[in-house]
Amino acid sequence: MSDLIQLQGKALREKQRLQMTVNHEPRDLMFDGYKTLLEVLREDLNLYGTKHGCELGECGACAVMLDGELVLSCLVAGVDCQGRSVETIEGMQVGPELHPLQSCFADLGAAQCGYCTPGFLLAAKDLLERNPHPTRAQIAEALSGQLCRCTGYLQIFDAVEAAGKQIREAQAERKVSNA
Ligand code: FES
Ligand code: FES
Repeated sequence: MSDLIQLQGKALREKQRLQMTVNHEPRDLMFDGYKTLLEVLREDLNLYGTKHGCELGECGACAVMLDGELVLSCLVAGVDCQGRSVETIEGMQVGPELHPLQSCFADLGAAQCGYCTPGFLLAAKDLLERNPHPTRAQIAEALSGQLCRCTGYLQIFDAVEAAGKQIREAQAERKVSNA
């Protein structure tokens, strides 16, 4: 085994320091260097909203935002998150208000067992921030990495469309009141 591989293996077995921003708050922790971001969030930061699914990058249950990009946290090494910014489902609600996606998912039956819901919500939020008025096909494409065993997807697509409409209407109202 080369010296480099031995050194890397040793680093992964040791505790590592990690400083990152999680849901807009600075966090500073020691964690086992072999852990993925998913494991750090759940096991070291007690943020259980990010779900543990396949661990293979196939189900989307572990999706979070990392420096503003949707990633699968089961495929991101914790050691690669130093100095970075993470947003999880726990950061989606602003103050006492549910995000429109959260209320539309609840109102339209888009969350049943709920296991897939955090990943869907973050992927849908990412879509609506990039494209505030997506077509049904664009919604299906943006959510194609997320698996749901319960809903059949139609309620989820309906909820994303309804939330997009609410967000656009709120933005239009703000423009009128600021004019
Ligand atoms: S747990 Fe990460 S994609 Fe399934
Ligand atoms: S609501 Fe159960 S897996 Fe999607």
